[in-house]
Amino acid sequence: MKSKLEKLLIKSQVPNHVAIIMDGNGRWASKRGLSRIRGHQEGMESVKSVVKSARELGIKAITLYAFSVQNWMRPKAEVKALMKLLKDYLIKEGDKLSEKGIRLNAIGRLDDLPEDVCVVLDDIMEETLHNRDMVLTLALSYGGREEIVDAARSIISRGDITAESINELDISNYLYTKDLPELDLLIRTSGEMRISNFLLWQIAYSEIYVTSTLWPDFRKRHLIKALLHYQNTERRFGLTSDQIRKREVL
Ligand code: FPP
Repeated sequence: MKSKLEKLLIKSQVPNHVAIIMDGNGRWASKRGLSRIRGHQEGMESVKSVVKSARELGIKAITLYAFSVQNWMRPKAEVKALMKLLKDYLIKEGDKLSEKGIRLNAIGRLDDLPEDVCVVLDDIMEETLHNRDMVLTLALSYGGREEIVDAARSIISRGDITAESINELDISNYLYTKDLPELDLLIRTSGEMRISNFLLWQIAYSEIYVTSTLWPDFRKRHLIKALLHYQNTERRFGLTSDQIRKREVL
């Protein structure tokens, strides 16, 4: 049964592509006198709940910032625990993704991941390749600046694009996200107003929603609140309100 909050959602105005900076696992744990790793384990429950909810709500693409390039510098034990959590998630949830019509995708410098994680990741990406209901993208060993550097390297190594001819589309086509829809909404949990090197190019016209809820507490109702905020915001893409209204009636 739909909650009161969910009934307020306008189905046709649900964003196509939502990305989430899942912050606050450490704070959630330290508030309870638990280890940071316990915080990440709880964060995994939120991942499962949000992926399921996103599909139910009609979101077509969800991108989760699971591990940044900079996160490799965290204490060794925390990095190891995060890699294990990721592998366990893939092993346990892979079949469910398949059944639910969700395609698994990954972006980032994936070659940096441990071999055993890469193997499972590749298997599930292949297994779910033809699923069409939603695409779940995990950003792993991901950095926004690194993504732009990698795109520049690929473009230059192609050798046939001149400086004068290069345009926005060329750059977009070399980003890790080339096959994903435009990013409509970026959510950040835990209250900080930062982008933390996430999807720097892609957020150009995205709405940004920051909630003080810590990631391990984030559930369907919090996602719906973010979507309602999005639906009540006028996206102008650099135009005036008047122009946007006229475009709507044309
Ligand atoms: C930020 O919280 C969170 C991370 C660096 C990792 C996010 C990972 C998960 C939610 C679990 C793994 C998910 C997948 C899909 C494999 P923080 O540790 O920086 O929190 P803090 O700012 O409160 O310290």
